[in-house]
Amino acid sequence: MATVLPLYQELVSKLAALIRAGTFPAGSRFPSVRHTSREHRVSVSTVTEAYRRLEDEGLIEARPRSGYFVAPPKIAADRFPTTAGRASKPIRLSRASIFEELMDRAGDPGFVPFATAAPGDGIVPHAKLSMITREVLRKHGAAAYRYTPPQGRRELRAALSRRLFDVGLNVVPDEIVTTQGGTEGLLLALRATAKAGDLVAVESPSYFGTLHLVRDLGLRVIEIPVDPRTGMVVAALAGVLKKHRIAACVVQPHFQNPIGALMPDSNKRELAALAEEHDFTLIEDDVYGDLSHDGHRPQSIAAHSSRVIYCGSVSKTIAPGLRVGWVVPGNHLAEIRRLKGIQAPWNGTLSELVIAGFLDAGGYDRHLRRIRGLYAEQCAKMRAAVLGHFPDCARVNQPAGGFVLWVEMPAGFDSRAFTTAALEKGIGISPGPIFSASGGLNHCFRLSCGFAFESRTLDAIATLGKLARHFLPD
Ligand SMILES: Cc1ncc(COP(=O)(O)O)c(C=O)c1O
Repeated sequence: MATVLPLYQELVSKLAALIRAGTFPAGSRFPSVRHTSREHRVSVSTVTEAYRRLEDEGLIEARPRSGYFVAPPKIAADRFPTTAGRASKPIRLSRASIFEELMDRAGDPGFVPFATAAPGDGIVPHAKLSMITREVLRKHGAAAYRYTPPQGRRELRAALSRRLFDVGLNVVPDEIVTTQGGTEGLLLALRATAKAGDLVAVESPSYFGTLHLVRDLGLRVIEIPVDPRTGMVVAALAGVLKKHRIAACVVQPHFQNPIGALMPDSNKRELAALAEEHDFTLIEDDVYGDLSHDGHRPQSIAAHSSRVIYCGSVSKTIAPGLRVGWVVPGNHLAEIRRLKGIQAPWNGTLSELVIAGFLDAGGYDRHLRRIRGLYAEQCAKMRAAVLGHFPDCARVNQPAGGFVLWVEMPAGFDSRAFTTAALEKGIGISPGPIFSASGGLNHCFRLSCGFAFESRTLDAIATLGKLARHFLPD
């Protein structure tokens, strides 16, 4: 006699088969409970039970206030990037390299934009920002075109102090200095803490903008490896501190660019303790912090230490072209105010007022919920496409937030030549060496998923996958 399966079990089998067949691809939104209940003519409680089982099997995942999504395939450990070796020796960075030139070309809007770590046009809340701009102009008239006060518009600093409270930073508006994007915040932080010849710890791989600043300030760097899951390897930094004195350490604890790592709070506490013991400043670059895929906002290292200069911006979350950023200088407030007064004393009044309006009453939280879901979906689809189209030796990260994928090929792969060949096919990518102070990581490259996934995206990944085979070592 045939066994009769409970209704929910039957539903689980049907839905699991559809997921495995790719009808619902990894990262895509899964039908709501109500929708499935209507479509399959079963009760809501049957669907709820079926979804619970699918979650247990790791096939779907619930995201707070966003619904259900098809979970990315389980990561085989041998398809995940490795940690980039040990800490380096002190390095003095050389002048402009060919890779900056390549980056200028790769960022050209005519190329498939895998090289640009920025939100695509479909992600920027254009209509809302336009509406707020009109309101600001109605309210402030010509005053919206004045210079800002040196520390930035109070409206923005007030909105930021409320936001930063949720990140574990308990600061009043006068303890915040607004900047022209996160880059200016990093520059101010480095200038306030290190002088030419000083040693600064940076991540490996590291955001290339940080490396450019460090080089132009004449600082020496020491590279600390980043674990693709847990971020900067604190034990490696501790080892370095036994031999060297550092002035500062630049760290991205949340959804690190380019490797996507998220540092656990216990590691942040260890890092904070090292800064205390060895008397250096932690420069926390948190431009991706609001972009966790599961909606959980991680806490700043500053929640654990007073030795932090915290830098943020709206470039990855709202609009990169508005050039709005901020720095919370902590103990370095007076020096950073002084430097800001010399370096770029005023920011854009109109853009600061617009961002203040958007943060306060423009639906920023709703916007974040939308884009976190989109970024999660885009990363999952792109990751699946990379694993599907690249040779089996390719390893790729699975970021818990943000929107960059780090692809690691076997040693001997030439990502510089690969980037040039990809550009010839109209595809921009970022070669590994631009993320390395020592010019290493040539077997890796970064792909940005900050824009809507379309058929040309998939075609471009397939093209890259084929092309990559030509750059593998013999
Ligand atoms: C890690 C990181 N920090 C800082 C920045 C600079 O941000 P902004 O465009 O706000 O200057 C970027 C931009 O790519 C980044 O990826």
